[in-house]
Amino acid sequence: MAESGESGESGESGESRKLQERLLRSDRDNRYLRKDSDERKVIEDVFDRSTLLALEDLISRGSLHALHGVVRTGKEARVYYGVDAGGGPVAVKIFLVSTMDFRKRMAYIAGDRRFGKLPSGSRETVFLWTRKEFRNLQTARDAGVRVPGPIAFHKNILVMEYIGAPPEPAPTLAESEVDQGDYDWTFETLRRLRRDAGLVHADFSEFNAFKWNGQRVLFDLGSAVLLSHPQAEEFFKRDVTNMVRFFRKRGLMPRDADSWMAELVK
Ligand SMILES: Nc1ncnc2c1ncn2[C@@H]1O[C@H](COP(=O)(O)OP(=O)(O)OP(=O)(O)O)[C@@H](O)[C@H]1O
Ligand SMILES: [Mg+2]
Repeated sequence: MAESGESGESGESGESRKLQERLLRSDRDNRYLRKDSDERKVIEDVFDRSTLLALEDLISRGSLHALHGVVRTGKEARVYYGVDAGGGPVAVKIFLVSTMDFRKRMAYIAGDRRFGKLPSGSRETVFLWTRKEFRNLQTARDAGVRVPGPIAFHKNILVMEYIGAPPEPAPTLAESEVDQGDYDWTFETLRRLRRDAGLVHADFSEFNAFKWNGQRVLFDLGSAVLLSHPQAEEFFKRDVTNMVRFFRKRGLMPRDADSWMAELVK
């Protein structure tokens, strides 16, 4: 909502442009910045003023130094390559308030006793989702599950460890050759997340795990719920079934989903 009757360069859009200028400063060698005008346009089209201000807050707190090019543009979130104060790469996931499907997300929030009263508006829901993903990353990491290390979050923005060789993200399992090691990792991770972190990922798939430098890294933990969530078992079964189906397609199928379910809930 406009804060005053002003418009044009002297008003909100002028200020947004200045914010963008500041966000996009940084080393001129970056290949994204050479495509300056395109990138500026992307940022201008996608981020509302509140997101630009939130990015500035993260920068002034030192959690982020600058935002570079976009890594992935989804309907509900965009992931950027950014750098921290030391010039190291970070992944910056920005949830889009305007396009998020709230009804769908609500099923993964309601019933999670960590978050108390349900948010009333769409902005609050997005902020809560961001906090939830950050919290899930911490919980999973503390239980020894390899995930992108959580660095900071603010409003609709999550900053985490960059997995891959920037600006390229690491390939996912879907994009990789898979072997018995990936199979074992997958079911061990499902077990560990459940048993040691008390979480069910709820969106576990070959698209949400990286295979990188001899490591596998689980990501996209926004949906993950506590085991006490009323639909936790249903989500768990879906995760197991998805992964059994994926490995079967790739010719690795020592066990079926029911047998894994029985084994993993022990
Ligand atoms: N920590 C990270 N490091 C590098 N790239 C990342 C990181 N997190 C996400 N990405 C990139 O962004 C993409 C989307 O990330 P993620 O799955 O978390 O978002 P999403 O909006 O839930 O996407 P989708 O709807 O496709 O599942 C990943 O496939 C990957 O290419
Ligand atoms: Mg994903």
